Amino acid sequence: MKNQLMLSYCNTENTHPFKGNVDFNKLQSYIDEYGVDKISFVNLEMDVNMAGGQPVSMENLRKLREFCDDYKLKIIYDATRSSENAYFIREREKGYESTPIIEILREMMSYSDGCIYSSKKDCLVNIGGFLATNNLEIFEATRSSVVIYEGLHTYGGMAGRDMEAVARGLREGAQYEYLRYRINQVRYLGELLAKSGVPIVKPIGGHAVFLNALKFLPHIPREQWPAQTLSAAIYEDSAVRAMERGAVSKGRDSQTGENIFPALELVRLTIPRRVYTNSHMEYTAESIVRLYQKRDTIPGLKMVYEPKYLRFFQARFEQVP
Ligand SMILES: Cc1ncc(COP(=O)(O)O)c(C=O)c1O
Repeated sequence: MKNQLMLSYCNTENTHPFKGNVDFNKLQSYIDEYGVDKISFVNLEMDVNMAGGQPVSMENLRKLREFCDDYKLKIIYDATRSSENAYFIREREKGYESTPIIEILREMMSYSDGCIYSSKKDCLVNIGGFLATNNLEIFEATRSSVVIYEGLHTYGGMAGRDMEAVARGLREGAQYEYLRYRINQVRYLGELLAKSGVPIVKPIGGHAVFLNALKFLPHIPREQWPAQTLSAAIYEDSAVRAMERGAVSKGRDSQTGENIFPALELVRLTIPRRVYTNSHMEYTAESIVRLYQKRDTIPGLKMVYEPKYLRFFQARFEQVP
């Protein structure tokens, strides 16, 4: 089971419908290694970025609840992309074909103790985020600390009009017709690339198309950051800004200080909502296909500045001569 899931998620050609699913053997191995007392909560992301924007199934969420109940472990979602995840459940999971997205979301949330949410994504707004919980203990504890870090618990540092926009966006972003348009636009870009032989993660993710940099630039060693290289090359060619999701993002081992090279080395082409037309998708695809055709000529990068934390936001690179 463990190997099957690992294989499905690492194999970018494998079209398993829910490659974001939790691998319970792996979770069990963490519990065995560290002890349940050392684990504050299980954090689960919707439309998992590091797996290529892949959804989690309802069955997996339900099983995770049962699993965590056995250990009295809390579950906190990163629900930022939960509406898009719900769309995939409706599209791919038996029994949900005609369930309203809002009901799918309610069931998904019922298996968690709370969630964090960056509203700039599925809530269709410019700014804001929130923490929601149905657990009184978490509510009391976070209500006190939010005053220190953000603002009073009633507004958490946000302006009233931004909160109003989030409340509306949460509903609007969960409409089936909107989600269908949104996910189909991402798919349109992915299919244009796949048709031209560009290696992408399959199935195409909810919020982004992910390029497989190890296959795109096989001549660049991992120490020269193939995904970062590809992301920079795309920007240089077309001014389209992409995001590295590989070894730069993964960082260093906290014990040994060595770089960690994850199984996947990806470039994320994240599509903002309700901003671009399909012509923009075509423009982006043309640039990437052009680069793919001359991929052998693209040189790698060396990191010349590395901040202590979250290096993928601020590290600087130079081309290897
Ligand atoms: C699942 C998920 N959570 C959180 C974030 C980051 O949110 P913010 O920009 O509000 O820090 C992202 C960004 O892409 C994301 O994909």
